[in-house]
Order: sequence, then structure tokens, then C-alpha cells
Amino acid sequence: EPAAGFQNEPLTDFSIEANRTAMQEALDFVRSEFGQTYPLVIDGKSSESRSTLSSRNPSDISDVIGHVAAASADQAADAVDAAHRAFPQWAAMETSNRCEYLELIAAEMRERRFELAAWICFEVGKPWAEADGDVAEAIDFCMYYAHEMRRLDEPQQCDFKGEENSYSYRPRGVAVVIAPWNFPLAILTGMTTAAIVTGNTVVMKPAEQSSVVGAKLMEIIRNAGVPDGVVNFLPGIGEDVGPELIASPDVDMVCFTGSQTVGLEINRVASDTDERQTSVRHVIAEMGGKNAIIVDADADLDEAVVGVMHSAFGYAGQKCSACSRVIVLEGAYDQFIERLIEATKSLKIGAAEDPSTKVGPVIDDDAKQRILAAIKTVDAEVGEEVALSIDTKTLDKQGTFVGPHIITGVDPDSNLAQDEIFGPVLSVMKVRNLDEAFTVANNTRYALTGGVYSRSPSTLKRARNEFEVGNLYLNREITGAIVQRQPFGGFRMSGIGTKAGGPDYLLQFMVPINVTENT
Ligand code: NAD
Ligand code: ALA
Repeated sequence: EPAAGFQNEPLTDFSIEANRTAMQEALDFVRSEFGQTYPLVIDGKSSESRSTLSSRNPSDISDVIGHVAAASADQAADAVDAAHRAFPQWAAMETSNRCEYLELIAAEMRERRFELAAWICFEVGKPWAEADGDVAEAIDFCMYYAHEMRRLDEPQQCDFKGEENSYSYRPRGVAVVIAPWNFPLAILTGMTTAAIVTGNTVVMKPAEQSSVVGAKLMEIIRNAGVPDGVVNFLPGIGEDVGPELIASPDVDMVCFTGSQTVGLEINRVASDTDERQTSVRHVIAEMGGKNAIIVDADADLDEAVVGVMHSAFGYAGQKCSACSRVIVLEGAYDQFIERLIEATKSLKIGAAEDPSTKVGPVIDDDAKQRILAAIKTVDAEVGEEVALSIDTKTLDKQGTFVGPHIITGVDPDSNLAQDEIFGPVLSVMKVRNLDEAFTVANNTRYALTGGVYSRSPSTLKRARNEFEVGNLYLNREITGAIVQRQPFGGFRMSGIGTKAGGPDYLLQFMVPINVTENT
């Protein structure tokens, strides 16, 4: 049963002309705001920094979206101090008041829905519908976590003759929130609001590539009246400020979403303790995936082709949930591949702000070079073949584009099949039977999302039991989890922590306390 009182924010229907006009106007407005400078915000005060980050539009790198202060290590320490000082008063506030702040944040996001989607579209190259989904998910996180916190605020009584037992939660303290660029509003909002609604104070560090969207979130948090010091905005280079933040004795938890390399480094630094610490730092680290879809011999190929294509090439494959391996049973192989290639050729590649675009750019030139280098490893000796490589020549002059790539005959142990590429690159593997399909699917250190297309109830049952992923999707695409309906997150090397947008998420931000009174 969905939690009463919480409802997902509807997605915008861009087939309605008024919505298309509103989005176009928002894009025009946001364009007129390009090039501004955004400061750090520590203890409610804006401060400059010695250097700034310039954020560019990946669809057209001559557009400078904005300049954002890049914090120094000293400023990182100041931000932790501010959060530490703000903690006692914030933690002592009535839970319902903290929940109301989240609802105010959501209300302003609703009002600025198109504008925020336009910032996302320009700053990280997300096509319209996906940029809109990012804002809707951010609103959902605010509303769901407020709703959940009201539920968790009721102490659980377990009384016994002669004694009263009460079980309740307290915040941990100072939380450092470190976010990726690919869901620039949703993930930053989700981690930050979860931390504050549970009574923690925050140092909020957006990804370098999406710092302007981070600054917009900070603006909304301030407009909601969240007290000074409760959320401190600390954009900057991860390697510069990360170690200072994570190793600080005043930091009680780190809430990270991003790559495996950085997540493991954060976990390592956070686990080191010194005598100044008063708590063992708690780490939540949501990391990458190497997600597979199995296409059974009896799958409905109309659905499988579209589902695999959207999962692999939506947002140019830059979702942690994206499909990067498709494992096809011999019986369906030839037909499936032929149809997948034809369908993928029809995807329109272009600037994210163009409403007809289905595949936008990749985030920046580093990403483009990394993705192209991965494609170059295709090895004719072991039978790997680039079956489709869509050219982006005319767009390359403006932005950082990589067209969808489908690679067949991929060796399940090769780097192509093992490493997260984080771009529009799909490895295809043919298997003889379902045993082999599940073996290949599970042949990865990651465990994030996975999917199966099949008409056989027995195959779907096997998938439920054998497919080792955090989010399993049967006969549908494997991206686009919705708050509360599909709580999201992986295990194994995909992460430590419970699912975002799910009933256990807030528990990680608190410590449980039991009080027993002899009566
Ligand atoms: P990234 O790991 O490069 O960066 C993430 C954040 O970490 C950024 O804010 C960055 O500045 C910061 N950072 C970098 N080095 C640091 C250090 N030494 N100490 C502290 N912070 C540091 O990831 P990205 O490129 O922004 O995002 C893409 C990755 O995120 C992919 O691997 C994707 O799978 C993953 N991701 C996972 C989920 C999930 O829910 N599991 C969701 C979205 C993205
Ligand atoms: N939550 C995002 C999805 O499911 C990553 O696609």
C-alpha cells in the first residue's frame, strides 16, 4: 500500500502545447541569466573564493552557464564549523517544523518547475523530458522524506509489566553530502533533505559539472528560511575539498553518490579515526553499475527492443541505472539485434534544448575521450565488433557528443563487459540457454539494476531468485525508478547504504535510542 498522504509529482506532458511554450520560455529566460557568478554560502553568508569553476553547456561549449566559487580547504573547514555550531539548535527543533521546511522547498520547486528543468537541460545536457523528471524526483524526495520523518517521529512503545520502553531516533550530527552531476537536482536534493529532516546539519558539495544547479538548490533552501548554518553550500573540486571534509573530526557522516573509485576512497578516508573524534563516521556510498538486461528466446521483441534502447541510450547512457550489457538467448538473437540496430538508428541526436532530441551530449570532453577510448578497445581477435556507431560529426563542432554504439560478440570477461563506461555504449552477448544467461548477468562486481524480457513465468521466477541486483525490472526498462514505488540502490560494489526514496533511507541518518523506565 502506498503511504497515505504522499503522492508522486506528475511528470510534465510535453504533448500539451502550453507546456511546450512554458518550457521554451523557461529556456529563453535561463539563457538570459547565463554567465553570472555564484558564491559559497557558509553560515548564511555568501563568500568569494580565490578560484572559480566555469560551467559550460555540453550541447554548445561556447555557452558559459555560470561561474561558481571553488572552495579552498580552509573554506571547507569553515563550512564544517558552521554546520557543527548550527547542529544543537536544529536537532532540538520540533520534527514537524523541519518537515515543513522540506515542504516549502518542494513548493518553490513546483513553482519554478520549468525554469529548473531548463537549468538542468543547459548545464548537464539533459533532454526536456528527463530534465523535467529530475525536478519531479527532487520534489518527490522532499515530500516523501517529510512524510517519512513524521512517521518515524512517533516513539515505538514496548511496555511490560513494571516498565516502560520507548524506542526513538536522534540525528547523527554533521553530514557531508557529496553528489554527482547526472541527476544534478534530484540526487543533491534527496541526500541533503534526508540529512536535514532527520535533524543533521549539512555541508553540501555539488559535482563540479553541475554547480550552477547546486547554487539554484541553495537559493531555494535559503528562500524556504532554513536557518543559517544548517545547509552550507560548498562547491569546489572534489579532490581539493574532499579530504578536508571527510577527515574532519567534527563530521559524523558522509553521504556520497558517484563513482566507485571516489566512493571507495571516501570510505577509506572516513574509516580512519583519531583521538579528536567523538563518533565513528558513518558512510553512505551509492556507486556505479554494469547493468544487464536478459532477452529470453520467447520475449516480446517489440517491447524488448524499445526497453533496451531506452535503458541503454536514454540520457546518452549516463545513468547509474543504464543498461550497458544485453544478454540475448540464441533463439531471439538475430531478430533482436537487427531490430535493435534499426530502432537505434532512428534516435535523434542533438542539443538537449531542442525538443525533438532523444540523445543529447555527454557531460564534457573528458567523458567523451574516456568513452571513445573504451570503444577503441573492441577486439577483432575475440570477435567483438562495432555493429552500430552513429556519427555525430556535424554536432562535434559545438558540443561533446558521442553517438550510440552497439558492440556485438563481447567477451563477458573483457573490460568492455566489466567496466562502467557511463556513456551510450551497449555490449551484446549471445548465450545458449538461461543458465548461461544468469551466469553472465551475475558475472560482475556490481549489483545495481537488471532486467529480463520473457513471456515465461518460470524465467521471471528464476530472475527473482537468481539475478543479483538491487533493482530488478521484469518486462520493462531498467531506468527511471520512482520515489516510494521503486526505492533505488545497489549492493556489492555498487554501494553501501539502503535505498533512496524507500522506507529505510532516513534511518541511516539517525541513531536509535532506547529508554526504559522502571514504573
Ligand atoms: P564522481 O565520483 O567523479 O564524482 C562524484 C562527486 O565526488 C563529485 O561531487 C566530485 O567532486 C566528488 N569527488 C571527487 N573526488 C573526491 C574526493 N577525493 N573526495 C571527495 N569527493 C570527491 O562521479 P560523477 O562523475 O559525478 O557521477 C557519475 C558516477 O556516479 C557514475 O559512476 C554513476 O554510476 C554514479 N551514480 C550512482 C548512483 C546511485 O544511486 N548508485 C546515482 C547516480 C550516479
Ligand atoms: N534513480 C535513477 C533511475 O532509476 C538513477 O534511473
